[in-house]
Amino acid sequence: MTKKKKTERKKDSGKKNAHKRKKQAEPEAAGRRQKRYRNNRHLLIFSVEAQLEHGKQVSNLAYEVAKELKLPEEKCENLAVAGFLHDIGKAELNQAFQQEDPLVVEEMNSVRMHPMKGYEILKRHGFDEEICEDVLFHHENYDGSGYPDNLAGPNIPVGACILRVCDVFCALVSDRAYRKAYSPEKAMELMTEDMKDFDLRVFLAFQRVMHQSEDGSLKLPEVSENVKGVWKSL
Ligand SMILES: [Fe+2]
Repeated sequence: MTKKKKTERKKDSGKKNAHKRKKQAEPEAAGRRQKRYRNNRHLLIFSVEAQLEHGKQVSNLAYEVAKELKLPEEKCENLAVAGFLHDIGKAELNQAFQQEDPLVVEEMNSVRMHPMKGYEILKRHGFDEEICEDVLFHHENYDGSGYPDNLAGPNIPVGACILRVCDVFCALVSDRAYRKAYSPEKAMELMTEDMKDFDLRVFLAFQRVMHQSEDGSLKLPEVSENVKGVWKSL
């Protein structure tokens, strides 16, 4: 089978799964996710300013990881766009977050909707299907424990796998209301413990990018104003 056909097959498979909305998580995985939600209350908060900064950071890192994986330039630029806009779906959900003492389960359901909301917003505005799908699947985990579709392994588009790694790292090295930012070294350590969430090939490329500083220390991703490819996409 040619490489092109394989890629198309994976994409088709991903699309099919996108519409199934199956709930097949094992109890252990469900418990793990619940714990994650409790530890990720920042996902419920949408601040335009914070989101712009986080988006730029994810965008730049995703572009670099895509280049490291030797993906075509157009794909790298699409990823830069997807990285910048990956959480745009939270803007539409923001209303739901204003209620007092929301139940954890309601919060979880709201959080789980933001990739689909983001997909719908970007589709409405005519963004490339590849960008829309990378945003839709940016919370899928390689072991199938993510959302919205519990996609696993190669059924997850590679762009979404790149966003997943970059998003987690950028979140860990940022200050949150309930904790200070982790150092890049600690963030890398935490992510290594959770490696089953990530595509190994992508994770290794991400590690190579992070170790590119001259003194061998880990570098923080750049928060550059120059988000590659964004203006071409608008
Ligand atoms: Fe997200």
